[in-house]
Amino acid sequence: MRPTLAPFPATRLRRNRASAALRDLTQENRLTVKDLIWPVFVREGAGVEEPVASMPGVNRLSVDRVVKAAEGAARLGIPAICIFPYTSMEARTESCEMAWSPDNISNRAIRAIKAAVPEIAVMTDIALDPYNINGHDGYVRDGEIVNDETVEALVKMALAQAEAGADILGPSDMMDGRIGAIRQALEAAGHQKVTILSYAAKYASAFYGPFRDAVGASAALKGDKKTYQMNPGNSDEALRLVERDLAEGADMVMVKPGMPYLDICRRVKEAFGVPTFAYQVSGEYAMIRAAAQNGWIDGEKVMMESLLGFKRAGCDGILTYFAPEAAAKLANGAY
Ligand code: PBG
Repeated sequence: MRPTLAPFPATRLRRNRASAALRDLTQENRLTVKDLIWPVFVREGAGVEEPVASMPGVNRLSVDRVVKAAEGAARLGIPAICIFPYTSMEARTESCEMAWSPDNISNRAIRAIKAAVPEIAVMTDIALDPYNINGHDGYVRDGEIVNDETVEALVKMALAQAEAGADILGPSDMMDGRIGAIRQALEAAGHQKVTILSYAAKYASAFYGPFRDAVGASAALKGDKKTYQMNPGNSDEALRLVERDLAEGADMVMVKPGMPYLDICRRVKEAFGVPTFAYQVSGEYAMIRAAAQNGWIDGEKVMMESLLGFKRAGCDGILTYFAPEAAAKLANGAY
């Protein structure tokens, strides 16, 4: 029970805010570098750092450059890096077989990072969209995104990533039954230690726009993802999805996007008490960057405030394109 406050002036809530020292002592939530997962885009080539126009400050990196980035991230204390492949239209097919090739760009990046920086955890993305001719996360048959056949492909993709040395698998596809199928296949193949961070509550969001540019999916995608990603109007459904994915063997869960869905983060954390992550997605990053570039907001302060908000909402960590920049600011301690 909350104690009744003494009446004013015995209670003056401003007392605890009067100095930086008191504000520090009474701060309830903190952001540290250990809360950050850094999503990066990897592409073919060598020595390549190709800017993503809609995400100022973010580059598509060739494998050698992604290794350098991972080394830098590890030096800053960032615990995990998450790999997303940029694929050209030519790499995309209807059968998506590139998705489970041991030599696709993601799997090569995973191996290269684990060889050079074994201490950083490598997270992956499991979904067919980078390899799919139509840009969807699942197979399209007669205009429909089919579930069970897609899950079979996702399992192959998961095994190839685990084989390449991934520490954390991130199924982002929102098909039903994929967590259980992937978990079973991992156990059977001897990958008992590979964790699954399920994109459990992933909404059909317009905030993914810049990401689809970054991975080359904007031109490919036909239609929308509303038959598999969540309706932004729903909240109870997120709890059912999280419960289902945990029951199937997810080790951690994610809410995505982040800032517009902090209420979902809070509900998930309170209902299940499991490791809960939020993805501050490309559109959220782009908005902050764009406003900062226009001089309309203080970009650094908004970045830190937005990340602290996730901690306040109950998240254990945040996937954010700001990770290296935030980590540099956190070098002298928590925020
Ligand atoms: C696709 C995927 C998406 C993101 C992560 N994995 C886009 C989508 O679902 O269309 C979005 C990330 C971002 O916007 O930063 N499986």
